[in-house]
Amino acid sequence: MSETTIQIAYLVASTLFILGLRNLSSPKSATLGNALAASGMFVAVLATLLAQGVVGWPTILAGVVVGSAIGAVLALRIEMTAMPQMVALLNGFGGAASALVAGAELVRAQGLDPATLAEMGGSIKASAIVLGTLIGAVTLTGSLVAFAKLQELVGGAAVTYPLQRTVNGAIAVAVVVLCVMIAIDPSRMDLYAALAAVALVFGVLLVIPIGGADMPVVISLLNSYSGIAAMATGFVLSNASLVIAGALVGASGLFLTKIMCDAMNRSLSNVLFGAFGAQADDGGAAAGGDQGTAKAYTPEDAAVIFSNASSCIIVPGYGMAVAQAQHAVAELTEVLESKGIKVSFAIHPVAGRMPGHMNVLLAEADVAYERLIEMDEINPQFPETDVALVLGANDVVNPSARADTSSPIYGMPILDVDYATNVFVIKRSMNPGFAGIQNPLFFHDNTMMIFGDAKQVVLSLVEAVKNY
Ligand code: TAP
Repeated sequence: MSETTIQIAYLVASTLFILGLRNLSSPKSATLGNALAASGMFVAVLATLLAQGVVGWPTILAGVVVGSAIGAVLALRIEMTAMPQMVALLNGFGGAASALVAGAELVRAQGLDPATLAEMGGSIKASAIVLGTLIGAVTLTGSLVAFAKLQELVGGAAVTYPLQRTVNGAIAVAVVVLCVMIAIDPSRMDLYAALAAVALVFGVLLVIPIGGADMPVVISLLNSYSGIAAMATGFVLSNASLVIAGALVGASGLFLTKIMCDAMNRSLSNVLFGAFGAQADDGGAAAGGDQGTAKAYTPEDAAVIFSNASSCIIVPGYGMAVAQAQHAVAELTEVLESKGIKVSFAIHPVAGRMPGHMNVLLAEADVAYERLIEMDEINPQFPETDVALVLGANDVVNPSARADTSSPIYGMPILDVDYATNVFVIKRSMNPGFAGIQNPLFFHDNTMMIFGDAKQVVLSLVEAVKNY
């Protein structure tokens, strides 16, 4: 394959990555975006293998078959609620690959004559090698800890100990010193081994103080790191396509992290060092004092109110994902519409446990995109709405975020469901959600609780509304 053909292939691949990312920004075009980006990656991998003559066709084919089989089994078997930990693993593998490639290049450089190796000192390539190794190794072990917490292989609570920040600060300084020394003198493989070992430990130490419930934000950040590590590796290999792909992943991961932090009204440093998960993991302990009595209703009672309604906004949350209630909700939507009730969905940016969680589930159940309305657009509609149906959501509809300055979620933008004429809340108990705090909404005069698993309750509601 000629050099020009290879560069054209890289250009095509990079263009496909950019178009893919562009299409991923809307649920409507996300499937196409995914396909474009995946094709771009296929073109890039093929061009690299052919250009470098790294391996022969039989090995390439074997890799494609084995890799595709593992990917297909994982993708088919994974539960939607387990998607964050799968992404964590994939990020970790990406970081590991970047660190290994950077390390292999340094090992190869040891074969150069001493003068040429010394000349490499201080070069972009030497700096990229240490950066790729450092960020790749941190991403690997950090992602494995995130995976273990989300998969509940270890406790999800934030692990804190005295002088934790001092210890992490000292390690950070040691890491920087090692990086500079190796970049200046690439012959120091002993220092390189030390850097790799310290970076692996550092990844663990950076993630253990973060509570399991904050892991989605951390995973988004680690995703960004894996992109930066890949970008560094692109510089090591002088591969423009890898630099572009890494930069796209690095930048989009950072943006996503910021969007998630903004939607929770928390700074990134509060997520990383605030040990917020420790609070969330205490279950009902932070449930708050006596707020009055919540009113329990049955689906049949609710059907009476629905029969007099002309508009309904459904607010899905994490409970919908746990109950896998999306298909039942789609059925309810059809039944309500058939009775002349206008139905929309209010989507909070951090409802559920991963970005776009609600959109993905509702798309799976074929709920039309036009019905899904974002927070800023739907909030003014609640005062004119007859029924707000809160389905396994809690924190994202907690009015304390608006008014209670002492609340841990004070300042977080919420969906103003309490302004609707009637509010139904479907959940299994009075237990708090992710933030570990009680929700005064449940005790409001216009709020009616329907206790039970979201899917079962919605199916009963469908029958009750049909038969009313
Ligand atoms: P949460 O506040 O976590 O509340 C979910 C509620 O669902 C719980 O109160 C639970 O009550 C109920 N539930 C669980 N299983 C259920 C089932 N099978 N049937 C019915 N209800 C069930 O969820 P949310 O309102 O979606 O808010 C998301 C939270 O996660 C926010 O605090 C957000 O900051 C945080 N977070 C989100 C993200 C992203 S990117 N989405 C990332 C990090 C953190 P019961 O146990 O009583 O049933």
